[in-house]
Amino acid sequence: MHVLIVGGAGYIGSHMVRCLGKAGIEVTTLDDLSSGRRDAVTHGEFVEGNLGDRALLDALFGERNFDGVMHFAAHIEVGESVVDPAKYYRNNVVNTQVLLDAMRDHGVLQFVFSSTAAIFGEPVRDRIDESHPKAPINPYGRSKLMVEEILGDYDAAYGLRSACLRYFNAAGADPAGGIGECHDPETHLVPLVLRAASGRRESISVFGSDYDTPDGTCVRDYIHVNDLCDAHLLALRSLWDGGGSAAYNLGNGSGFSVREVIDTAAGVTGRDIAVVEAERRAGDPGTLVADSTLAQAELGWRPQYADLATIVEHAWRWEQALASAER
Ligand code: UFG
Repeated sequence: MHVLIVGGAGYIGSHMVRCLGKAGIEVTTLDDLSSGRRDAVTHGEFVEGNLGDRALLDALFGERNFDGVMHFAAHIEVGESVVDPAKYYRNNVVNTQVLLDAMRDHGVLQFVFSSTAAIFGEPVRDRIDESHPKAPINPYGRSKLMVEEILGDYDAAYGLRSACLRYFNAAGADPAGGIGECHDPETHLVPLVLRAASGRRESISVFGSDYDTPDGTCVRDYIHVNDLCDAHLLALRSLWDGGGSAAYNLGNGSGFSVREVIDTAAGVTGRDIAVVEAERRAGDPGTLVADSTLAQAELGWRPQYADLATIVEHAWRWEQALASAER
């Protein structure tokens, strides 16, 4: 089997490349390196380019026989999507459609799509399962929901089958080392807390302490990046086995507050972490926790690293590698 990984030089994509490589599946990465890193691609062939480049896609699909495509090449910043929605709709929707059209023209009809909890908007239930109302509150979430809807129509009309995987809060790093989370600018809680622990930043700001949660800070469902990758492989195998299109919410089903994450990081690292109370960040729901029963039942998915301290420990190893490379 041979899988095209679009965005394979990014955080989750690079872990997916390694996961497939270790499973003995041939991988080719397509990435324009706008935010990914060439050295994060540890297996298979690397092709530099953008998913919206139809001529490049035709060459790529024409010269290789792919058995499926996984797509991680999205812009992911909620705040940026509000100030520059054109960037989000162009890349996350228009360019994704270029990819899908190339796939169907070349007869590659299995697709695993990186979706997000942001398609649900403000939660109306404590645990978010697949039947939760889909009402995104920003262009990022809308761009992902639009692709999910396009995929439903492409299956009905063209037989292009897909799995939409809605991530909650991806975190951690492959414990084998060498790859990890590396956004620029970094906005995510776990890597920023660990930078404060390693001394690469002075403190961590807590965005809002007056939410309707046990300690007043936002609650999220943190899921290890390798567990996400396992779910992708299971979803792709299900499509290869003839399974129909599906969508799954992926989290551990337990919520941790920002303060609990900081306390866990202090315990794992043994370092003091300076905390600054800050205003709420626009667009942050108080609580986001997944119900992943469906993925467990239908795919047989079992997260291996569900414990928050383990997730933080793996992220800490990566942060220490980054910090020593900077010295
Ligand atoms: N937070 C802080 N301080 C920081 C950074 C984050 O207090 O310096 C808080 C946030 O306010 C939030 C929590 O930590 O309550 C987690 O924030 P992240 O930025 O790590 O993650 P989000 O929950 O905002 O984002 C995730 C995905 C997005 C997706 C979003 C859906 O990373 O891609 O969920 O709501 F869009």
